[in-house]
Amino acid sequence: MLSHSDLSIGHKPRPAEETGLLLREVSRRLVEARERFLGFPGNMAFDDSDSGHLLAALANNVGDPDSEDASGVHTKLFEREVTAWFTALAQGDPETTYGYVTSGGSEGITFGLYVGRRRLPHAPVYASSAAHYSVRKAADLLRMPLVTVECGPDGAMDAEALAKLCRAQRHEDEAAGRPPRGAVLLATAGATMGGAFDDVPPLREAAGAAGPCYVHTDAALGGIVAPFSTPRPAWCLGDGADSVSVSGHKFLGVPVPCGIVLARRELLPSFPVGEYVGARDHTLACSRSGLAAVLLWKRLRQLGTCGLRTLVHRCQDTAEYAVGALAAVGAHPGRHRHALAVTFDRPPEEVCRRWRLSAEGRRAQLIAMPHVTRRAVDELCAALRQSDPPVPSPSRWAVAVRDEDAYRAEPAAAQHRPA
Ligand SMILES: Cc1ncc(COP(=O)(O)O)c(C=O)c1O
Repeated sequence: MLSHSDLSIGHKPRPAEETGLLLREVSRRLVEARERFLGFPGNMAFDDSDSGHLLAALANNVGDPDSEDASGVHTKLFEREVTAWFTALAQGDPETTYGYVTSGGSEGITFGLYVGRRRLPHAPVYASSAAHYSVRKAADLLRMPLVTVECGPDGAMDAEALAKLCRAQRHEDEAAGRPPRGAVLLATAGATMGGAFDDVPPLREAAGAAGPCYVHTDAALGGIVAPFSTPRPAWCLGDGADSVSVSGHKFLGVPVPCGIVLARRELLPSFPVGEYVGARDHTLACSRSGLAAVLLWKRLRQLGTCGLRTLVHRCQDTAEYAVGALAAVGAHPGRHRHALAVTFDRPPEEVCRRWRLSAEGRRAQLIAMPHVTRRAVDELCAALRQSDPPVPSPSRWAVAVRDEDAYRAEPAAAQHRPA
């Protein structure tokens, strides 16, 4: 057990050997944790310890990836490859799409909303009730009013509910005799809880009732899942989004938090940039991780687009397997189409803690990330079988059980429900 006193930082240097032992212990624990890391969208399947040599020097990508900077100690060449790859995946035009490697999905959301606000300075943000909490944070930081839109039975934003809200806003603007404020729409591709995909084209059309519209898609996990799903959810630049973001430590399993954001170049606001930096800079930060850019590049090169496709399909199969296994122990699973997430009745707290399940209200969730095996699912189900039966209740995810895939698993639930 590591304690505060083991880790305390004192006045004097401590022996390197002792520090090294502590670091080994940390990595041992992190690696061990992956066995039961079932409920969060971090991919623990990869081991990048062969790239430890990258820690021998600072790699700082200050400013835009396609701009040199005065320090010269960067990995922007790799960053450009990564953003070009994601631009193609998101069906962006390589000539007119801007992108960079962020600190994670949340920076991508903040960047997208910022570009939206610069384009439509008085527009509120419209996001579904299933949007990630970082959307609220970003809207607050940017002082943009946030309007929550209901989800439909499939867990995705309801286009009719959005149109109604946008029409009401337009009427308000007309009544006040001001130009339409428009709408900044935040679509989610792969909701944090439940994994539903918002359908960008009808939502964009619905938001048009408010006047001009800007769309950002938060595709933190779904940006890698959607392109390889059939039928393909409409989430990306090619489907009408103006900007999109994805996390790099989620499906891609980069061992440091990171992400990618893309936006239509013509919409970019210009920031003040310190002359000393010697670079153009449209990013939110100044210093950015050159290490993350290289590790993202490494993962994409290692897998290739075909390898990623295979991995996504394997994970979707595991999610489907989990639906059957959870139904068999009476946990009432629900799974949205394409999702890696499977929700089920929330088990007792010790089961949630042991298996690192995410939970909200009366539902818990497992996410079939690449390190999640059928064996781990079986072990969880064995634990569920032995735990006190949860009280099943309707919740917003219970609606997800209507998904055809989940229904297929229902008869098994009836047969194997514990007494
Ligand atoms: C849909 C969605 N958006 C954004 C985020 C936040 O991403 P990050 O943790 O990379 O900042 C998450 C995290 O789980 C998420 O699920």
